[in-house]
Amino acid sequence: MSLPPGFLDELRTRLSLSQVVGRKVMWDPRKSNQGKGDMWAPCPFHQEKTASFHVDDRKGYYYCFGCHAKGDAISFVRETENVSFMEAVEILATEAGMQMPARDPKAQERADRRSELIAVMEQAVQFFRLQLKTAGGAAARDYLAGRGMTGARLDRWEIGFAPDGWQGLWDHLRGKGVAEDMILDAGLAKPSSKGGKPYDTFRDRIMFPIRDARGRAIAFGGRAMDPEDKAKYLNSPETLLFDKGHTLYNHGPAREAAGKGKTLILAEGYMDVIALSDAGFGAAVAPLGTAITEDQLRLAWRIDPEPVIALDGDAAGIRAALRVIDLALPLLEAGHSLRFALMPQGQDPDDVIRTGGAGAMDKLLEQAQPMVQLLWQRETEGKSFDSPERKAALDKDLRAVIGRIKDPSIKRHYGDEIKNLRWQLFNPRREGGARKPWRGRKAPQPALSATKSSALVSAGQGFEDYLHEAVILATLITHPGLLHGALDALERLDCTSDDHRRLQGALLTHADETDPAALRAAISGTIGPAPLENLFALRHVQICPSVANPQDAEKAALCLAEEVAKLTATRGAAQEIEDALQDMDGLADEGLTWRLGQAAEARNRAGKSDNEDRGEYDIGPNGARISRDERGAFESLLAQIGYGTKEPDAS
Ligand code: UTP
Ligand code: MN
Repeated sequence: MSLPPGFLDELRTRLSLSQVVGRKVMWDPRKSNQGKGDMWAPCPFHQEKTASFHVDDRKGYYYCFGCHAKGDAISFVRETENVSFMEAVEILATEAGMQMPARDPKAQERADRRSELIAVMEQAVQFFRLQLKTAGGAAARDYLAGRGMTGARLDRWEIGFAPDGWQGLWDHLRGKGVAEDMILDAGLAKPSSKGGKPYDTFRDRIMFPIRDARGRAIAFGGRAMDPEDKAKYLNSPETLLFDKGHTLYNHGPAREAAGKGKTLILAEGYMDVIALSDAGFGAAVAPLGTAITEDQLRLAWRIDPEPVIALDGDAAGIRAALRVIDLALPLLEAGHSLRFALMPQGQDPDDVIRTGGAGAMDKLLEQAQPMVQLLWQRETEGKSFDSPERKAALDKDLRAVIGRIKDPSIKRHYGDEIKNLRWQLFNPRREGGARKPWRGRKAPQPALSATKSSALVSAGQGFEDYLHEAVILATLITHPGLLHGALDALERLDCTSDDHRRLQGALLTHADETDPAALRAAISGTIGPAPLENLFALRHVQICPSVANPQDAEKAALCLAEEVAKLTATRGAAQEIEDALQDMDGLADEGLTWRLGQAAEARNRAGKSDNEDRGEYDIGPNGARISRDERGAFESLLAQIGYGTKEPDAS
């Protein structure tokens, strides 16, 4: 059915979002301001006691600062009533006293057909489950028991068994009066080419029902019992119900778990999802017998802005990771990213959990690498950059990769990374240099390992500065009481990103606000919700003590002072050095040699914690130990700034 132009706008203006939402939540009277249409409540999409769910009645928009659920009246009804877009529109239109346009009869027919097919699928689910309990299902039960699948686990996943005959399900459904074309259209049987009776699609297989996000059975995955079978897994064909590339196994339960704070994990297979879920990683999904598609990525991002892709530890797994990167690059937008957890050689998540338990999986997830790091590895690993041509080629490749990112802000972040590396050149340490030391400046801390899991690259001083800023901003937003004492520092903050600059501006504007929730609302109102969302989506920010403990103002004040000091120290040194370099007229070559040597050493030191993890060292041109990644970064940097042809003297 198509809606006449303007219908939705009219609907939205007629509705009061707070009224629609008000049926599902208890407003927090202390925080809410009815007159301003500024309403707060505990979030209906995740478990919480505090009111972090905000409704802006005038804009008709809601946002949860806890689980990041957001949308308008239509999406609210869709999510809370578990209905389709059109159904939500219909519910709201009735409420607003608007006449729904007449249904397109064709679409109506399709919708009816769909619900009939779903009913047939449900009958099949029950049939298969029953078969698993019969004598004919003994071998399947044994096999499943061997994999630890018994009792409640079988029920929870509705696992069944398709018997080995040709017409087991067919005869059962026909006996129940289901029409032949319904069984065929549901993909449960195939017409015989010899003109005989149609035969069951699934025979002698363990059956995994596949449900859509709303929990309706739309397809099956069947695992062969016979190890000789050509297809280990067979999935339902595409039907009116089943669009393979747009479906995720375990979508509904995973979305719910993610809403309660679990990280979304994209695994490769059914058994991985089951093992992950039952081990406590409830937000696990898998594609269905295909590589991850663009649609599936989008679905995943709607569940979690930074899902982890868990890939089998084999060559195919790594290839799959690289394919996902190619797919994801043009789709990236602010706040959306991916991380990659590679399983040990020859294992999948199911194996990892079976042999090492949830703890082993936790570790792998913790070490998940941000997308940029894998990308960098792909472009540099195993290649040498020992000639200007090769360096230029790397540069070109990197530019092409970055060029595929459509979102300007993400593109800028990636571009910033190169600027960060450049900046690194002008941030030498005082030890070991031929020049006079710079007094009273502390060397910046090596990057924390937690920063590795961030959506941004974890290399370079600029990135450290970015994180210091982020923590400062997030601390002030969490503890507005500190704002007045910090106005001076806040004003002087020389922000590395536009988001940070906007947040800085908004904080200065609303410096009188003392209530955290009201401050957030005011900031969102001034600059939109995105900068705040992005800020608090940073893992580095989430784990920072001042943000993690919103009650502890004292700890926050300490943390704030420390971060400001760190930032001022490194920035001050940078400025001093840059000024000095400008004075070095005529000493360009000597200066260059020295700067490059320093930069290599600085990179070497700043990246140490990272190096130790991976243990892949190279000897840099100046004799310093650097990891292969670091070396690649350094080489690219040289090429970028046009000094790619010169190597610094060993000294
Ligand atoms: P795997 O071969 O890794 O299977 O395929 P698995 O999940 O580890 O299964 P077990 O542990 O051997 O039972 C991963 C996914 O690829 C699809 C299925 O969706 C499977 O879950 N697949 C695999 C197929 O569609 N067909 C196949 O023949 C094999
Ligand atoms: Mn497996």
